Amino acid sequence: MSILEKLNNKFENFTKTNEGDDLFTKAKLVSEILNSGINTGNEGLGMLSEEKVQGEYSIREKSGNIHKVIMLGSNSYLNLATNPEVIESAKSALIKYGYGMGAVSNYAGITPLHKELEKRIADFYHCENSIVFPSGYGTNIGVITALCAEGDVVINDSANHASIFDGCKLSGADIKVFPHGDMNALEKILKKIPKNKTGRLIITDGVFSMDGDIAKLDIITKLAKEYQCRTMVDDAHGIGIVGKSGRGSAEHYNVIDKIDLNVGMLSKSPGGLGGYCAASNDIIQFLKLYARTYFFSTALPTSIVGGLNTVFKLFEQDRAGREILWEKINYLKSKLYEAGFDIGHSQSAIIPVMIYDEDKLFKIHSELRQNGLYTNIVTYPAVRRKECRLRLCVMKELTYAQLDKAVNLLYVAGKKYNII
Ligand SMILES: Cc1ncc(COP(=O)(O)O)c(C=O)c1O
Repeated sequence: MSILEKLNNKFENFTKTNEGDDLFTKAKLVSEILNSGINTGNEGLGMLSEEKVQGEYSIREKSGNIHKVIMLGSNSYLNLATNPEVIESAKSALIKYGYGMGAVSNYAGITPLHKELEKRIADFYHCENSIVFPSGYGTNIGVITALCAEGDVVINDSANHASIFDGCKLSGADIKVFPHGDMNALEKILKKIPKNKTGRLIITDGVFSMDGDIAKLDIITKLAKEYQCRTMVDDAHGIGIVGKSGRGSAEHYNVIDKIDLNVGMLSKSPGGLGGYCAASNDIIQFLKLYARTYFFSTALPTSIVGGLNTVFKLFEQDRAGREILWEKINYLKSKLYEAGFDIGHSQSAIIPVMIYDEDKLFKIHSELRQNGLYTNIVTYPAVRRKECRLRLCVMKELTYAQLDKAVNLLYVAGKKYNII
């Protein structure tokens, strides 16, 4: 197969072994394509951050070339990953406890700092208790597979994160999916679920990770009550940012007390690593025994946990810089809108810039980066190809000058490729 023939193949063509091929042949084919020098949208492979991630900083390309980019692709929206107060707490925890736990949580893996974090997260959601997982991805897998099994029904928004769908598949429960944000379709599904299904769970992202909009939790919680469903919200991108005190998407709709499983990630605005679920005492105790990604996985190191305790102290006091972030979000959105871009319906720090053409997307993304702007590139399997886009993530510490420069670069590329 020539490189060009291979290039006509798409991501999904390489997920299975072709008849007669060795198990590893597909990896070799993908390597050849990535090394061919033709844009595939995977140019990120091989890129290195040369210093701490901030508004504008140096990256090293695969070629070895080091240059500055404006960073519009980090989920550390509040710059807490580099916040001096957070780093100080991480440092003192590191010195006191060492750099790794060497055990899963249910053996010798946790310290008073881990307990403090569980309590801070539970208090933040006004819940009885919480559990902290060593990975965000593993949080969704662990929570869903612990609580749902064959005979139960899980009902998902089509734009939910991959880790939610993976958890649902692994659970063996019956999976129902409604089109993104379509509450009539959700109700239709709920009406049809036979009464003998033992458990029902509606699962949704709070802030959707590829669109930046917020799930309609006011309607979802009403429907959940009417059709006797439990609710799970993964607010990975909402925590610390949306809602009147930064408590996330459920606070935005004033329904925190109606969400049964408040899931979130410690890797995005909190700037660390891991994930959590805040819920009732019974549920948390159950998860600590039955969530396999908790039971069978080493606990977070205390440097991360110590830093996160300070993060939640800042969140509790609403001192993490949410207001400044929102000024930057609103500024960037208005500039992009003025420039004529289709930016969807973002209600968060995630702003999609719709391109709708994969070929143009690869070229635009690559040229922007060479010209000094880093954005995330989003296409299949994260979204449908025809809905491909750049995904801009705003950070609090981006300056207005950096935002203006970013919009100018986007404008030039947008004009060149007839996007605007
Ligand atoms: C909505 C959502 N849930 C879960 C995850 C997984 O979190 P982590 O990256 O911390 O594993 C992500 C991250 O991409 C996400 O966007």
